[in-house]
Amino acid sequence: MSSSFDFGMVGLGVMGRNFLLNIADHGFSAAGLDLDPEKAQALSEESGDKPVTGTTNTAEFAALLRRPRKIMLLVPAGKAVDSVIESLLPHLDKGDLIIDGGNSHFEDTNRRMEYLKMKGLQFLGVGVSGGEEGARRGPSIMPGGNVESYQLVGPILEAVAAKVDGVPCVAYLGNTSAGHYVKMVHNGIEYGLMQLIAEAYDILKTVAGLNNQALHEVFSHWNEGALESFLIEITADIFAKRDDKGDGWLVDKILDKAKQKGTGKWTSQNAMDLGIGIPTIDAAVSMRGLSALKMERKQAAPHYTRSVEETPYVNKEQLITQMGEALYFAFITTYAQGMHLLAEASQEYGYQLSLETVSRIWRGGCIIRARLLEDMRQAYQEQPALRNLLLSPAFHDSLLHGQHAARATLKTAIDYGVPAMALSAALAYFDTYRREYLPLNLVQAQRDYFGAHTYERVDQEGVFHTEW
Ligand code: 6PG
Repeated sequence: MSSSFDFGMVGLGVMGRNFLLNIADHGFSAAGLDLDPEKAQALSEESGDKPVTGTTNTAEFAALLRRPRKIMLLVPAGKAVDSVIESLLPHLDKGDLIIDGGNSHFEDTNRRMEYLKMKGLQFLGVGVSGGEEGARRGPSIMPGGNVESYQLVGPILEAVAAKVDGVPCVAYLGNTSAGHYVKMVHNGIEYGLMQLIAEAYDILKTVAGLNNQALHEVFSHWNEGALESFLIEITADIFAKRDDKGDGWLVDKILDKAKQKGTGKWTSQNAMDLGIGIPTIDAAVSMRGLSALKMERKQAAPHYTRSVEETPYVNKEQLITQMGEALYFAFITTYAQGMHLLAEASQEYGYQLSLETVSRIWRGGCIIRARLLEDMRQAYQEQPALRNLLLSPAFHDSLLHGQHAARATLKTAIDYGVPAMALSAALAYFDTYRREYLPLNLVQAQRDYFGAHTYERVDQEGVFHTEW
């Protein structure tokens, strides 16, 4: 075969295969490489008569591709990316482009970009969201790097990305690691929303006594309104799924220990580094860790049981309505936290992100797609330099109204001893951000008292220290 293939993919797991088939659906020819012959074979079988071929041989793979080669990697983040790059290098020519489509840490992306530049190669760090289905039918794609490199593959990415009102959910986001940074924050928001939904589930199940059928109906109903989103939709589906290995519903058979691959944690870590509070996302990361302590929780549980007298009467219908409103309120504040972090990171790392563009490409294809993303996009269109969505008139009324529901449902959760750490953090974030005064004057006084760390005054310029 001649060097005529438009696009190459390394890593033919389900994501890689689906992405390649998606590319082929749009009229591009594509070659896949995987050292596992079964995966390369699976690609050939699934591709039918499409212009797609799979191989296990790196030299053959490189020879198949038209120059400058465009090669995407969909391999697990971390060392695998470096070793795949090393294995490709002897077969590449100057000007070829490597695209890392995995969930790589943005600092690794910066490092790889520098390294490959020295070798005369181009590199893009590209976030891809939407899971297996998204890869096949249209993901949201978040590219970062040199704009010239993006232009080499822009038409292919725009063809395969999800579309909302005919507009592709992909756009060049900014230089260096902008794409992977945005994907990291996407995942941080994803963690926050998932945890909020899990808490709503716990409150409705534990306090209101809703069974899976009722939960399915409530979530389906929510998905027809302001909360409409991919995560609410799949949650409704999950409650309807019977267990195929026994009686009852599958969700009740799943162990309550959540795993993680790290992107949520990275979001929290980097937010700490930049001094931006994202407490809902932090709570979601903490809850994954706490959930893993199943044995300890089991040990503690019998020592701290709660009596029925401690749990006040709750109007079930009212709780369901308020829970939906509280969730919408918390969703907005979670996106606000993530976007605030993006605004800060854009300055700190010189990404020059357009938050309108980020909102636009998140409207479809990705895990955090939701109806409210279009409102967000409009908010940033009207105020491109908006620091925080809480300052936008677009969400003012929803937040003002929703806070009451958030307070009411949280009080109920507290009365019933149901942990709602993310919802609580969402409300506390709102209460903090909207409050001109915070008691941190006292923290400054304490720091000065024990460590002579000095403080500023509200009535005079300068730096002060007191012998307390
Ligand atoms: C996506 C997802 C995806 C991620 C999973 C798992 O946008 O398609 O974010 O990239 O791998 O969400 O993440 P955790 O294993 O950390 O939950």
